[in-house]
Amino acid sequence: MIDLHCHILPGIDDGPDDMAGTLAMAREHVARGTTTVVATPHVGWDYPNSAEVIAAGVLEVNAALQAEGIPLEVLPGAEVALTRAVDMSAEQLGALRLGGSPWLLLEAPISVDAPGIDGLVGIVQSRGVRVLLAHPERCASFHTDPDLLARLIAGGCLAQVTAGALTGFFGRTVQAAARRYVDAGLVHVVASDSHDDRHRAPGMGEQMDASGYADLRDWMATDVPRALLDGVPVPPRPAFTPEKPKRRRFWR
Ligand SMILES: [Fe+2]
Repeated sequence: MIDLHCHILPGIDDGPDDMAGTLAMAREHVARGTTTVVATPHVGWDYPNSAEVIAAGVLEVNAALQAEGIPLEVLPGAEVALTRAVDMSAEQLGALRLGGSPWLLLEAPISVDAPGIDGLVGIVQSRGVRVLLAHPERCASFHTDPDLLARLIAGGCLAQVTAGALTGFFGRTVQAAARRYVDAGLVHVVASDSHDDRHRAPGMGEQMDASGYADLRDWMATDVPRALLDGVPVPPRPAFTPEKPKRRRFWR
């Protein structure tokens, strides 16, 4: 699997504090079947990370992974806050794309009902990047405007759902939104959005299976992420019938 959204770099955002934490996350990724991770530290007004800092962090992490014999590839990327992205140049945005692909991981404000999201996303798109929306299911604006995600997808965006959202980690409202978007064909990618090796830990496959989306697991966790990184068209979604989630407690 390929994880396009993961806070794995040490010490530059709300991910691990040090390399030991990064390596613990990396081991967890490998144990759960992930082969490639795009490091997506926050880039926003509160985390002013630059492409240069991220690239240096990725080099350091890959060297540590090699030294430890952990078979995980880490590519540079970022999770860029929408409110910061609209203020960045085409060059700055381009330098933060996922693994040098055409795609930028863009985060809409989580808890505020931000007005005018369509227009702001359009501004970012007009600067030459393609937009992968990070976890719209966690953003209040998408809850209060049920057609917002469909409009953005029609406008050329793709959407990433967080694996834990599907199993209820972020509560029932977020879970229901995530399932509604997947069922409606508005989601293309599942990612871990992991921040550590325990509480918000790596892994996507188990959550896809446990939430009744096993038929979409390969497409959302491997095939589409690969296509995005390669800059090729998204492969057609396999047919699937939404299942009810399995009745069991899921711990992440
Ligand atoms: Fe994130």
